[in-house]
Amino acid sequence: MDTQVGQMEEISVTKEKITAPKLKFFLETYGCQMNIADSELVTAILLNQGYEPAPAPADADLILTNTCAIRENAEERVRSRLREFRKIKLHKPDIVVGVLGCMAERLKEKLLVEEDCVDIVVGPDAYRTLPFCINEVNEGRKGVNVQLSREETYSDINPVRLGGNGVTAYISIMRGCDNMCSFCVVPFTRGRERSREPESIIREARQLSDKGYREVTLLGQNVNSYRYGDTGFANLLGMVASINPLLRVRFSTSNPQDMTDDVLYTIKKFDNICKYVHLPVQSGNDRILQLMNRSYNRQYYMERIKAIRKILPGCGISTDIITGFCSETEIEHKDTISLMHEAEFDFAYMFKYSERPGTLAARKFKDDVPEEDKSRRLSEIIQTQQDISYSSNLKDLNRVYEVLVEGNSRKSSRYLSGRSSMNKVIVFPAGEHKPGDYVKVLVTKCTPATLLGEPVN
Ligand code: 5AD
Ligand code: SF4
Repeated sequence: MDTQVGQMEEISVTKEKITAPKLKFFLETYGCQMNIADSELVTAILLNQGYEPAPAPADADLILTNTCAIRENAEERVRSRLREFRKIKLHKPDIVVGVLGCMAERLKEKLLVEEDCVDIVVGPDAYRTLPFCINEVNEGRKGVNVQLSREETYSDINPVRLGGNGVTAYISIMRGCDNMCSFCVVPFTRGRERSREPESIIREARQLSDKGYREVTLLGQNVNSYRYGDTGFANLLGMVASINPLLRVRFSTSNPQDMTDDVLYTIKKFDNICKYVHLPVQSGNDRILQLMNRSYNRQYYMERIKAIRKILPGCGISTDIITGFCSETEIEHKDTISLMHEAEFDFAYMFKYSERPGTLAARKFKDDVPEEDKSRRLSEIIQTQQDISYSSNLKDLNRVYEVLVEGNSRKSSRYLSGRSSMNKVIVFPAGEHKPGDYVKVLVTKCTPATLLGEPVN
């Protein structure tokens, strides 16, 4: 046996001598789910070029960071990471560093000047040209492509999900955004809205289901306005849900103005479409909503919430809120708090307004709410939501929910963690169960953020 092993080793040594060692890449992702999905496309492109993944930036020949530009602090985080890459590059000058995604698109060539370790700048619609940009760097130039596109959906590229849990996956169904909310940089970084052909979406979902995935999330900046020929979002949702009753379907993000009843009835019709809607409200005050260029008012938004509750009783609802938008008064801030009580969101993502250069708000309005007011208002809405989330979780006590297991709980490998159809995280003792299982769990305890329970038969 021993000699055999020795012989095998010798053979592999000879092999290594003939084939050049593969180049390694390290890809890091910031920002939203869309960026995670984009990084999976970039991974596919790099693997196709013969690259292999590196465990850490210092082991890589190519370091890429897929970035977010939505708030200033998202960009600051990337810049501090770039300073670390710069240090690595001082020791290994041949390392190529690239910035991808929204921050690349926003800052373009300026990034090369401001961050001297950066060799490559590639925007969200130009990932196909990444090999070309790398080549540019190998030939002594910088590799920049920030061209936006009206057509690119990467529909023919099969994403490679290296960092995933093997249970849940994102599928990008559209790109860009035409909404032009006055605070938002996304229309500038991700370009015009376009939908991906349904056949390639269905194919991708079917392949995932065949591989044993149990949940897909259909992604876009505004999925409810998905349209490709005759196929609208409700049709698409139905088609994906019909692939396999054991494949859960989620989607994100919905905009209130497009969250029509036909989508709600499709969610109702299929057991495997999760009973969960993320519906960003941003503010509870009509004047602020108008300044934000959101095309609905408070009353319209609340009607949509009521429609969701009526058509889909028990449906989970979450939202996004921006606090301290230009000229927001204390009374207008209180309107947001009162809307939160009225809507009873199960959870919420809450942010301080961050002015983004080039947006309508940056050009037209003053970012005049003092930082300390923004911070206090943010703490107030966070506290409000904590209380509402806690009451919502208390209502789940003594109820049984079907949990799709995603992995071990963060605290202990003796516990598993997964989500209910309503998107609540439920933790329970592992027993014989494993990731990918559907487990019926009786909720016995809760915190404002998590439900805890016991499996039942
Ligand atoms: N400042 C703060 N939050 C923002 N968002 C978008 N742009 C900004 C900004 N300039 C928030 C919105 C959006 C979420 C993804 O990020 O709430 O729904
Ligand atoms: Fe995602 Fe928007 Fe951030 Fe771009 S700017 S990564 S689209 S959240």
